Amino acid sequence: MKLKIAVLAGDGIGPEVTNESIKVLNCISNKFNHEVEINEGFVGAIAIDHYGDPYPEETHKLCLESDAVLFGAIGDPKYDNDPKAKIRPEQGLLRMRKKLGLYANLRPTLVFDSLLDMSPIKKERITGTDILFVRELTGGIYFGDRGRKNNDNYAFDTCQYSKDEIIRIAKIGFEYALKRSKKLCCVDKANVLETSRLWRETVQDMEKEYPEVKVSYEFVDAVAMRLVQWPSSYDVLITSNLFGDILTDEASVISGSMGLMPSASVGSNNALFEPIHGSYPQATGKNIANPIASILSLSMMLDHTFNLKEEAELINKAVESSIINGFTTPDLGIDEKSCSTQQVGDFIVEFILKN
Ligand code: IPM
Ligand code: MN
Repeated sequence: MKLKIAVLAGDGIGPEVTNESIKVLNCISNKFNHEVEINEGFVGAIAIDHYGDPYPEETHKLCLESDAVLFGAIGDPKYDNDPKAKIRPEQGLLRMRKKLGLYANLRPTLVFDSLLDMSPIKKERITGTDILFVRELTGGIYFGDRGRKNNDNYAFDTCQYSKDEIIRIAKIGFEYALKRSKKLCCVDKANVLETSRLWRETVQDMEKEYPEVKVSYEFVDAVAMRLVQWPSSYDVLITSNLFGDILTDEASVISGSMGLMPSASVGSNNALFEPIHGSYPQATGKNIANPIASILSLSMMLDHTFNLKEEAELINKAVESSIINGFTTPDLGIDEKSCSTQQVGDFIVEFILKN
């Protein structure tokens, strides 16, 4: 098979972790006789430095011409500390999601048996946790009207959702629920917000089409609590853009490290795969960032975009083996014994070659 992939490594640790994924991609495609074409582009702070634009037209074109996009991270502290900055790296990511029509963000939260003790939550509470967040990604408060008034002394952001936007995201949630444990949780704040009432109403209407799926409706504040109390009680959750942003960061600590969690952003025509951790500027250039979230994002790409199940499964096994055998970066272990970003990548490549 021919795989045409756009690689946007982005900022901070993005390039380091993405490098390891490319190593794994080259290795897996050699082994399974696929032809890979990789084209690199700029996004984020690095794109501002080169083009004065965090998502330049060249990059957009590259994404449109590719089968899938592998993305690293975005963000730079020089912008975080300047709330008045007009051009920001994050705008690149938001525009990319919108222009590529990536309306659904799939974020799995899994626990690895060999890491149960790494979690800040008690072992017996997290054992068996296997959650899939389906986060709406191109609407809501992220994209509603916003602005300033009264000489900048008043600010507003608005949350807006159309029924169609809710239907298409809920459909993905229902379909995953059917393939998994047939449980779907609709996360909202319907006791306060009008958009949440529309979410609830729309999902209630859709229940008829999916009689096998058991749907629960829960307020986002309660979900935030139950996620750390009984994470294993959840399966598929559908959320608005902002609620999903917050809950998936919360959920990522369940597994023991945010450095493990991959994600897929999908739409009707394009798909982008990225680790959920950010640019982690403190670790940039130190060769200590965990490449596993990026490598698992690559595995999601092979599975979702190319339907290469065997290849994806082998990468997952290699990752699991690196964890079981203690070939992990410092976020997962005792400093003296831990590996570098590259050593983890090398272990995974070797496992693939041998198995
Ligand atoms: C994420 C990130 C982004 C978001 C930022 C970088 C714009 O936090 O992918 O979760 O808020 O969606
Ligand atoms: Mn986030």
